[in-house]
Amino acid sequence: MDDLIVKQAKEFLDTEDTLSAMCNITSLLYHELGFVNWVGYYFYKNGKLSLGPFQGKVACSSIPVGKGVCGTAFQKKMLMNIIDVTRFEGHIACDPDSKSELVVPLIYENKIFGVLDIDSDNYRRFGSKEEDIVSAVADLIAKKLAGK
Ligand code: SME
Repeated sequence: MDDLIVKQAKEFLDTEDTLSAMCNITSLLYHELGFVNWVGYYFYKNGKLSLGPFQGKVACSSIPVGKGVCGTAFQKKMLMNIIDVTRFEGHIACDPDSKSELVVPLIYENKIFGVLDIDSDNYRRFGSKEEDIVSAVADLIAKKLAGK
C-alpha cells in the first residue's frame, strides 16, 4: 500500500528487534493519524488478551476473549470500526474520552497474535482510508510476529 505511514512502519520493522519496532509504530500511528487518543496492542496470552506497548492514558491490562471491541474483533477475527463506542454493547471504557474505535486483528496465515487497537476522542473518526492503512500496518506486524 502506497501510504507514508505504511512505508514508515515497514522501515521500523526492518530490524531484528520486533518489540522496538512495534513501540515505534504505536507512536507513528498516535502522532500521524491525527485525532487519536490511544494506540496499542493486546496480545493473546494464557487464554486472554494482555496489554502490550501503547501510547495514551493507562488502559485495562487484560480483556477476556469475546468481550469489548477488542475481544470481539479477536474472537471474530475481523476488523471492527465502531463509529460511536457508546452504542457498542459491552464496550470497555478505559478512557472516557474515547468516542470511536478501530480494532484490527493481527493475523498471519490463519494464526492470530492479538489486536491493534486505536481510539479517537471524536465520533466517526475512522473511515475506509484509516481501515486500509491500519490493516496494512497490522498485516506487516503479524508477518513479523510469525517470524516471516
Ligand atoms: N475499548 C476497548 C478496550 C481497550 S481500550 O480502548 C484501550 C474495548 O472495548 O475492547
